[in-house]
Amino acid sequence: MTTSRMQSNAVITAIGSYVPEQVLRNADLERMVDTNDEWIVQRTGIRERRISAPEEYASDLAVAAVRDLEHRYLARLSDIDYIIVATSTPDTVFPSVASRVQHACGIVSAGAVDIQAACAGFVSGLQLASGLLLSGSCRKILVIGTETLSKITDYTDRSTCILFGDGAGAVLVEAAADGAGAFIASRSATDGAAGHHLYCSALSDNIGGQPIATERRIVQNGREVYKWAVTQVSGGVLELLETAGIEPPALDWLIPHSANLRILESVSERTGIDMTRVLESVVHYGNTSAASIPLALDLAVRDGRVQPGQLLLLYGFGGGLTQSGLLLRWTLEPR
Ligand code: UT7
Repeated sequence: MTTSRMQSNAVITAIGSYVPEQVLRNADLERMVDTNDEWIVQRTGIRERRISAPEEYASDLAVAAVRDLEHRYLARLSDIDYIIVATSTPDTVFPSVASRVQHACGIVSAGAVDIQAACAGFVSGLQLASGLLLSGSCRKILVIGTETLSKITDYTDRSTCILFGDGAGAVLVEAAADGAGAFIASRSATDGAAGHHLYCSALSDNIGGQPIATERRIVQNGREVYKWAVTQVSGGVLELLETAGIEPPALDWLIPHSANLRILESVSERTGIDMTRVLESVVHYGNTSAASIPLALDLAVRDGRVQPGQLLLLYGFGGGLTQSGLLLRWTLEPR
């Protein structure tokens, strides 16, 4: 576990997002499994999610999010020198989604890498981008969270199929011309011993010797992950703020991974950060893993809730079990 103030020259200079057209409502799920709208809303807050088309993959969603960023912020893509994509649902293991984005967006000389930290992936991507910028290796980095979780969701398992959805969010992170970055503090922690509580198998039939289902689908011990999330995320958020010397009331927006509205409410209660200052994407998009934080952020950027000068705390958590937090000052105008 590591929590620290950061040296930083990183600034987010553009944001974009995309969700597929097809909407899967709770009423639709009632016809698929033994569930009901009231249970889903009461336990999770989720009302609907977006589902990618059969031939629509994580790279397609990522490219659409990048196009949105490009149009809204008139961003130049040609001089991006690194692409980091956080996803648990790459179109192919290789080439990476990042390589596909490089090609589709005509970003000629960029490095490209996919990272996999489940729902903590987007914030982990920002942390890595910050290091590349500070080292001087890069000047302009595209960080994307993109998921087609519907393609690995078991729609016969009512405890998981009500949760997940598809979407993508992208940001440009650049080295500030005056060297004064906007990233303030970061936190990372992992509890690999509890990894078997949330997984999707690829090649192995066990985690730490414990047998697991080998089909390519999400398996979750929801209750265990719930308990872990509310304690770990609340503690992590407070630790991150304390490390930065910031009292919870001074934070403008907390943006935790949108896993479940009840988890967010519990974190809000435990940290003293009122729900009116918590951003979410879970109610209309479900749990979109690595995409949930940039989606929640972009919803609030678009409607003007997030404004330049505000303090934001992004906090990813999930499969691993892993966590990544980042405190930053927002500098972008709403568009
Ligand atoms: O993104 C990565 C991180 N993931 C998370 O943070 C998810 C954390 N976990 C959760 O959000 C919650 O545990 C769930 C929403 C997944 C489940 O809620 P819960 O309150 O923990 O329910 P439970 O699994 O303890 O199940 C309670 C009851 C069970 O029935 P019995 O055994 O009490 O008769 C389940 O069979 O609810 C039943 N149930 C359902 N009933 C109607 C489970 N799923 C459903 C359903 N509809 N969809």
